[in-house]
Amino acid sequence: MSASYDNLNGQNHNSYTERNDENSGFITPARRSKGTSNWIKIGIPLLIVVIVAAVVGGVVGSRHKSHSSSSSAAALSPSQSAASASAAASVAASQKLAIGRFATATNSFYMMPVYPSTTDSAAFGSPTLAASSNQNSWPADSFTPSKPDVLTVRTDRPRLIAPAFKWAALPSLIANDPYLQGWNATIFGNATAYKALSPVAYFNDNSSGILDNARAIKERIKALAYVYRMTNDTSWVDRAWEEIQNAAGNGTVDFGPADDRWNSGHFLDTAEISAAYGIAYDWLYDLWTPSQKSMIISTLLKYGLQPGLNQVTTSAGWWRTNTQGNWNCVCNSGLTIASLAVLGDDKSGVPEQLLQTTVDNAVENCAQAVSDDGTWAETANYWYFGTTGHAEMTAALLSATGSDYGLLSGNTNFAKTGDFHMYVTGATSLFNYGDHGPNKYSSTANSMIFYASQYNQPQYALFQRDQWDAADPWSMFWYDPRLSGAFWDGKPLDHFFDNDLDQWGSMRSSWTDINALYVAMKAGKLLGHQNHNDLDVGDFVLDALGTRWAGELGSGDYNSPNYFVGETQTSPRWQYYRKMTEGQNTIVINKANQNVNAAPTVNHDTSNTTQGPTTVLEVDQDSTAYFTTDMSSAYFDATSVKRGIRLLNGRKQVLLQDEVTASQEVMWRMHTNATVSIDSGGTSATLTLDGQTMKVAMLNPPSGAAFTTSKAVRFDSDPTPPIPDQDNPGVTVLIIDLPAGTYTLEVLFNPQWPGSVNYVTPPSVALDQWSLTSHN
Ligand SMILES: *[C@@H]1O[C@H](CO)[C@@H](O)[C@H](O)[C@H]1NC(C)=O
Ligand SMILES: *[C@@H]1O[C@H](CO)[C@@H](O)[C@H](O)[C@H]1NC(C)=O
Ligand SMILES: *[C@@H]1O[C@H](CO)[C@@H](O)[C@H](O)[C@H]1NC(C)=O
Ligand SMILES: *[C@@H]1O[C@H](CO)[C@@H](O)[C@H](O)[C@H]1NC(C)=O
Ligand SMILES: *[C@@H]1O[C@H](CO)[C@@H](O)[C@H](O)[C@H]1NC(C)=O
Ligand SMILES: *[C@@H]1O[C@H](CO)[C@@H](O)[C@H](O)[C@H]1NC(C)=O
Ligand SMILES: *[C@@H]1O[C@H](CO)[C@@H](O)[C@H](O)[C@H]1NC(C)=O
Repeated sequence: MSASYDNLNGQNHNSYTERNDENSGFITPARRSKGTSNWIKIGIPLLIVVIVAAVVGGVVGSRHKSHSSSSSAAALSPSQSAASASAAASVAASQKLAIGRFATATNSFYMMPVYPSTTDSAAFGSPTLAASSNQNSWPADSFTPSKPDVLTVRTDRPRLIAPAFKWAALPSLIANDPYLQGWNATIFGNATAYKALSPVAYFNDNSSGILDNARAIKERIKALAYVYRMTNDTSWVDRAWEEIQNAAGNGTVDFGPADDRWNSGHFLDTAEISAAYGIAYDWLYDLWTPSQKSMIISTLLKYGLQPGLNQVTTSAGWWRTNTQGNWNCVCNSGLTIASLAVLGDDKSGVPEQLLQTTVDNAVENCAQAVSDDGTWAETANYWYFGTTGHAEMTAALLSATGSDYGLLSGNTNFAKTGDFHMYVTGATSLFNYGDHGPNKYSSTANSMIFYASQYNQPQYALFQRDQWDAADPWSMFWYDPRLSGAFWDGKPLDHFFDNDLDQWGSMRSSWTDINALYVAMKAGKLLGHQNHNDLDVGDFVLDALGTRWAGELGSGDYNSPNYFVGETQTSPRWQYYRKMTEGQNTIVINKANQNVNAAPTVNHDTSNTTQGPTTVLEVDQDSTAYFTTDMSSAYFDATSVKRGIRLLNGRKQVLLQDEVTASQEVMWRMHTNATVSIDSGGTSATLTLDGQTMKVAMLNPPSGAAFTTSKAVRFDSDPTPPIPDQDNPGVTVLIIDLPAGTYTLEVLFNPQWPGSVNYVTPPSVALDQWSLTSHN
């Protein structure tokens, strides 16, 4: 990455602030202040089990308990007469409605779905996208372009994402599908809330610009236009117009400087409002008067598309060569959606010029942002922005022109990014290494629902449909109601991502238990992540018992001076605690940062344990997985630093092992929200958090090794950062601090599971000798 690119970042082109705006619905899922009620934990699962039993027993009739993809209704469909096929379809529909949504809650402590705890496999077959043999599926699109051409669009409206035939089909699909039913109701509720609010007020924070505003406008326009089309009540159109006028500076209050209202210097903002205008123009096309149409077009041209043309034809558009980040996806997507919307009606020629470059540019860049292992190169959180842009743009091109122009196929590994998202999602929350970005607003994980159909990966949609952010107008059109089964059926519990850039592993004890054990650890390179990463080779998170025991500190303040300048060892970014090695859950040597040029190697293995069809999983005693890394290249004062983490005792315990030879002080650090109590011997500690307990103990402790704690603050010996660090309230660092030397540190984590669990003490095995059976 070039120096000038750095400067651009440094000059706020790629920076935003975390703000918790009162209008925000789609904030980063983090802990809520309340837990799941007992009623949700206990009441609903029992109810569901009863319903499942009743439906399967009563409607489908008796059937054997083993699971297969041909279970329940699907077994009745393939080769039948039309009459019995239609009867089967109605059985399938009533069964589906009676079972309802799989998750019983999404408002749990960490906003994760709560699945009923049941060993009844009847409702949960393999992930399937069945051939169309029932009434509950989308009709085919009759628009078939003679030759796919980005400038030849369908003649009927809407042309973006949801053509008229889909709107016509939607009510009956909703009537027969519990997920569509629930999302429709949520979108109505959200639109009703927006209707009562004033239009989005302009607020430029001079760092993230007006990105939050832009995304809030887009989120509102989508919902308002959706509800109009579902009701024919023009008061929704009036409210959408109010939002449009406000963003044009024609409302009752000012909206930005008259020459650049959409803040084109931070082009994400411009792209998102352009997309909002495009959707409003297209979805409400028949409702706008000719004068409203020309007002929308003139404003879009002035504040969106003309500045866009400047971006794509001058060096202002630095993001045009940005293959590693969300910027290329979001900027090209906004310009494409807006251009497609007004193509033909606008006479300036600008949309045509834009479309001839945005699509190809996104294929060459945005579509390459996924590594060959599926990982999004920025962070797990930036994946939301990037894939939302990619999916929206692709869906708009498919509906408007009949082709994706290579956005789906231009990177043969793109489809794997759904697995990245699933595995980076832990039992309580994301493996949220690096920066987390701004509020999400109109970005969700609903690209998963789109990719499920496009890549024939039904488990992606089955996973996402139970998540808290699934209700969204896009989901209504991307979801294929023929989907059936459970995403977890047959899903391996572990996965390893091997691209040199990322190198990380994900291991868990269940996909459907919010209390499951989840461990993820990363190695990977420290450059090449859009300066959104930390100096964090060997960093890990650990979930168990419904909470996170070893966690991340998240983004620093995006307004901090030179926060995004991080290409060299001494760059300002690496002077902020949350980005420094000491702010991570890894080894620190000589109280210094890791080497930004680290090139670790990794090794790993798994018993390949998969979950079955039910939500209750009892793994075998020898079911295990481990991830090790030789991270010596990340350190300056060490000849060898190796780290490994593994699951033990049927995935009930975790062993973290480090082997270090260092010529300077060695420090083991882990950040936790738990209250830490160190036992009198100093080599074990009891962590308590959210009413749960985790015992942590050193095995074979080296002489002098003892646990200590500190607040999550920089060492006194550190250089003074450009501005003071953010506080990390409630966070304690658990530490083992040793002088220079050669050590093996074995730290055993024993979550105190309910019931009687026999905890094992594993043998001591050198990391190079680790195997699936080495600790039996
Ligand atoms: C949408 O409605 C859901 C369900 O009521 C609510 O949880 C969510 O916060 C709302 N989102 C927004 C953006 O208002
Ligand atoms: C969508 O939700 C609204 C609000 O709950 C409801 O009035 C409407 O009937 C739903 N639409 C369909 C097709 O079910
Ligand atoms: C952003 O900069 C403008 C112009 O200097 C200033 O008027 C405004 O108060 C600043 N906004 C914030 C949130 O600091
Ligand atoms: C809205 O109007 C369209 C076109 O006239 C019609 O097809 C549709 O059924 C109406 N929808 C409702 C909910 O009234
Ligand atoms: C806003 O007002 C300007 C100036 O009158 C006009 O050119 C533009 O079309 C208007 N746009 C909208 C969306 O109202
Ligand atoms: C502490 O809890 C907050 C809120 O859930 C979370 O964002 C953060 O990552 C946690 N920190 C640690 C060190 O686990
Ligand atoms: C796990 O699956 C991989 C890939 O199919 C295979 O190479 C490996 O031998 C399997 N390991 C076990 C323990 O079954």
